[in-house]
Amino acid sequence: MTLADYSDKVVLITGAASGFGKLLAERVAEAGARLALGDLNEDGLNEIAETLRKRGAPVVTRRCDVSKESDCKALVEAAVDEFGRLDIAVNNAGISQDMIPLIDTDEALLDRQHNVNVKGVLFGMKHQIRQMLTQDGGVILNTSSMAGVGGAPYIGAYAASKHAVIGLTKTAAVEYGKKNIRVNAVCPFFTMTPMFIDSGKGHMDNDTAFKALAQSSPMKRLAQPEEVVSVMLMLCAPENTFMNGQAIAVDGGMSA
Ligand code: NAI
Repeated sequence: MTLADYSDKVVLITGAASGFGKLLAERVAEAGARLALGDLNEDGLNEIAETLRKRGAPVVTRRCDVSKESDCKALVEAAVDEFGRLDIAVNNAGISQDMIPLIDTDEALLDRQHNVNVKGVLFGMKHQIRQMLTQDGGVILNTSSMAGVGGAPYIGAYAASKHAVIGLTKTAAVEYGKKNIRVNAVCPFFTMTPMFIDSGKGHMDNDTAFKALAQSSPMKRLAQPEEVVSVMLMLCAPENTFMNGQAIAVDGGMSA
């Protein structure tokens, strides 16, 4: 795939120490971006930053917990202090949940999902948009899920949080489109990132569960991280100038 030109674009990514966020950081760095990376996992963050710097990419990192507004603000400030602006922000950090029937879902689980998956996106966008309003606009991409589009058996709290991500995405898009700030969401199907692989450990037979999930998809397989990240790159691309407020499924046809 030919990469869009991210030359000198300042790109902020949360959840950059693993999975989609890490791979996206590598791809935009290859395409010329300057990076501000945040994650709870400081070791993972340092590792990806070191790799990218060796390849010549300018990178600033901040350990951040996206459920805390002060951390989301500090990450935006780090980008602006280091590079002078913020062009593209990807609110990607998120957590999954154990499979639990709706009737057993408790407040603590709902709060945990809400704190990271919803507050992380809202607080992130709040400070990213404030910065973008001082410039000539910007681009925001939020990571939702297919669980944010339809029903998702046994992961109700996660599904609620990912539906909220789409609500926030569309709201920001219609509030700030006039300021040349575009906001979209990506909605992946099950993808072989550490989050998904780990989700099966300990309470189900991974191979059997993964095969059953694969069979439920029209393409009869799960997604690979690269297949989702290629769409994230397209959604963030500087030349993608009129797509706004969309929640784009990358699901092998599951929602068709
Ligand atoms: P991952 O577990 O590989 O990466 C998630 C990253 O987010 C980790 O580095 C983790 O340390 C970080 N993180 C978690 N809580 C955080 C917090 N409070 N503050 C800052 N960083 C935090 O998982 P993956 O799959 O790359 O997930 C990225 C996003 O994609 C998540 O929002 C997830 O819900 C979403 N997603 C994943 C799917 C999958 O099947 N892998 C499917 C649909 C959506």
